Amino acid sequence: MGRFKKIRAALLGAGTVGGGVYKILQMRRAEMPAKIQADLEISKVLVRNLNKKREGISQEVLTDDWESILKDPEIQIIIELMGGMEPARTCILQALEAGKHVVTANKDLMAEYGRELMEAAERNHCDLQFEAAVAGGIPIIRPLKECLAGNQITEVMGIVNGTTNYILTRMTEDGMDFDEALKKAQDLGFAEADPTSDIEGLDAGRKMAILASIAFHSRVTFHDVDIKGITKITAKDIQYAKEFGYTLKLLGVARNVDEEMEVGVFPMMIPSTHPLANVKDAFNAVFIHGDAVDDAMFQGKGAGELPTASAVMGDLIAVARNMQNGCCGRIGCSCYKELPMKASGESRHRYFLRLIVEDRTGILAGVAGVLGNNNVSINQVIQKPAVDGVTELVVITDKVEKRHLKDALMIFEQMSMIREVASVIRVYSQRQENDFV
Ligand code: NAP
Ligand code: HSE
Repeated sequence: MGRFKKIRAALLGAGTVGGGVYKILQMRRAEMPAKIQADLEISKVLVRNLNKKREGISQEVLTDDWESILKDPEIQIIIELMGGMEPARTCILQALEAGKHVVTANKDLMAEYGRELMEAAERNHCDLQFEAAVAGGIPIIRPLKECLAGNQITEVMGIVNGTTNYILTRMTEDGMDFDEALKKAQDLGFAEADPTSDIEGLDAGRKMAILASIAFHSRVTFHDVDIKGITKITAKDIQYAKEFGYTLKLLGVARNVDEEMEVGVFPMMIPSTHPLANVKDAFNAVFIHGDAVDDAMFQGKGAGELPTASAVMGDLIAVARNMQNGCCGRIGCSCYKELPMKASGESRHRYFLRLIVEDRTGILAGVAGVLGNNNVSINQVIQKPAVDGVTELVVITDKVEKRHLKDALMIFEQMSMIREVASVIRVYSQRQENDFV
């Protein structure tokens, strides 16, 4: 028998995800006594605009008064789905200080203030669950913290942004250019009116900070993540990727090698045979490598009303079960190490370079010379037939340190025979022990 006959929660936010949570709870409410040995009720819903019509949510539960929720001793769980930094951060801290458990989907907050919030939860013997903050409906946070806890995780790679995956899929499969694919994503409601956070890689960067912190047991914040978005990717880059047997994806890559961490988000060419290459449209996937489990991939819907609400509901039920068993705070902060970040310039990758050059004798030797003098070893080169005295030179490098490539690119900028460095894109190569790439 559980300790409580009825568990009351409050929703902060009744937008896409909040509305979904409310809906699922109505559908599943009759099963709650069997699932958690108690009735589960959302007794208040905090919103900004009390006059907005909200399908399925009764007017009596709506409020715009946070204090009335905070001070209500009957409300034991706060489900924060407002998004953004404030007032979400203050509400969560106040709720924890008042002894209320918290479920949130707020990646912005967790990627920046994760430590502070987890410490507040621990101090107050409360649960703070945030499964929906990464990859929406895909279970990944609890699997990492629980099912895979016996592993040393050395790599996490993720397609963790659906909007950019949709855009790159349209560019790859339908030959669209970036602007056309973005417009289509906006028309279909994948991309927001202001898509900056998605297309510049910021949303994925926040999710990777959270994933890396959990996978490597060491706090990584958004500011530690090396981020590059997809706005400069062209149809031509995608075409070359295909020619070389690669697919272009916006990938989050987190690695721990010899207890140094590297976390980044960048467009990357991955072999078309890699499982992540076949994750298309707005789907998300997270690929992990652990020393015991080997490779494992989690795939599904990374956003949307019901998929995201599914993850929130899972957290809510987990919190209710903990409450019934008197074991709240069972899995709190798992960052028990303090690993350093690897210096960004020392990270080693293979690169695809697309150079627009004058069709002159010695150009190939000039480019090869600059790369060689800067420790950038060439793996493959393609030169296309010249048009109007200008040609495209495409180089794929071996694994090189980022700082060495940067030095070579600076010299290219001074060379009159190089009209433009049109693209610099990372190329996947198999992770090896004792190596970052
Ligand atoms: P949303 O549709 O914009 O809804 C936000 C809700 O919060 C609205 O009901 C809004 O009230 C309310 N709200 C915002 N600021 C408030 C304030 N200061 N006081 C009171 N109420 C406030 O957002 P969402 O898409 O559901 O996202 C919620 C959270 O889930 C975010 O952290 C987001 O990053 C995360 N998430 C979303 C998705 C997704 O697919 N949408 C996926 C994964 C994670 P009004 O309705 O009155 O304006
Ligand atoms: N904007 C995100 C995406 C969904 O496109 O994946 C919310 O995390």
